[in-house]
Amino acid sequence: MLVPGFIDTHIHAPQYSYTGTATDLPLMDWLQKYTFPAESSLRDVETAKRVYSSVIDRTLRNGTTCALYFATIHLQSCIAFAELAASRGQRAYIGKVCMDSLAPADYIESTEESLESTERFIQSVRGLGSELVHPVVTPRFIPSCSMELLNGLGALADRYDCHVQSHISESLDEIAMVKSRYPHLKSDTTIFDTCGLLHDKTIMAHGVHLDDEDLRTLRQRGTSISHCPLSNFFFADGVLPTAKIVALGNKVALGTDVAGGYSPSMLNSMRNAVIAHQVTRNFAPIKSDELLDWRHAFHLATMGGAKALGIEGQVGTLEAGKSFDAVLLDAARGGIDVWDSDSSMHLLEKLINLGSEVNVAMVWVKGRLVHKQGEAVLIDDPV
Ligand code: GUN
Ligand code: FE
Repeated sequence: MLVPGFIDTHIHAPQYSYTGTATDLPLMDWLQKYTFPAESSLRDVETAKRVYSSVIDRTLRNGTTCALYFATIHLQSCIAFAELAASRGQRAYIGKVCMDSLAPADYIESTEESLESTERFIQSVRGLGSELVHPVVTPRFIPSCSMELLNGLGALADRYDCHVQSHISESLDEIAMVKSRYPHLKSDTTIFDTCGLLHDKTIMAHGVHLDDEDLRTLRQRGTSISHCPLSNFFFADGVLPTAKIVALGNKVALGTDVAGGYSPSMLNSMRNAVIAHQVTRNFAPIKSDELLDWRHAFHLATMGGAKALGIEGQVGTLEAGKSFDAVLLDAARGGIDVWDSDSSMHLLEKLINLGSEVNVAMVWVKGRLVHKQGEAVLIDDPV
């Protein structure tokens, strides 16, 4: 079955090295113990290239034709990442991570360094002239950025008409930290908005603890939420009410949040979005008739992502006139039994609920074959 390519709207490429481990701590402790040391090691460009090359390969194998990546604070390693993505032919939106506070001494930047290297990163990536690879202004999250840095990044995003990504209202420990630092400011949304970081090219991960007022602000700004259900089970102290938020008219897409989420598979993310919905629905004091099933999850993982990135005119469906970003799924490659009585909708439902990388036979981005199972694909003319 041929389907539109999957769009992962939240993935930390440098955390790929410890995917499948580090599942035992809450967010703030997890960042200190596992994340910052792993990310810090990617200051070495050769190490970075090894990890980034693996993550591009793994996500393509899983049918992710387009990804919105967080990288690290290191300019040269981030540029190497953008070059690798361009040469492998993946549609990649890449953020040089910004943090001038609350990080270890060997993994922090000054405000000036952060702004200067973000600007150089934007210029370098644009300078590659790739149609597929784009720079993203990336304050890690409010606790790791001073107000001066956030304001400066808002101005840069505006000046360069750049996408923006960050984490918003993710977990109770994160929210408590923001509250203790800015007791007079209402929420993460208020802070990002004051700094000019919320617009229609902004994608905010998680948003589990957004209230109705925050959601209204995001709607008014055209800002999207990247729902990362598997990661939320570990860190978020709650579940995003996805069906309600979609019904309100907020733009929602799906992400894996590797390595907070331990699976790089968007099929897995779709399944977990449905499970998260079922869990909240089953435990809600009043049962609602809101629905989020595999079809909605599939839509969020394709068109949802395209709309979040503002590229729904180019990708997200297999309609004529769009770029051919597609995945060939094959149930027969293993793990999935198909019966004569199965309709094509049954087949798609099975592939989403039971499928894995094993079932991803071929992957194309912008009409070019970028993965074929069992064969090395060489791309000689990066676009
Ligand atoms: N908040 C700040 N940094 C991170 C991160 O790396 N992962 C997640 N899930 N949340 C974050
Ligand atoms: Fe994240």
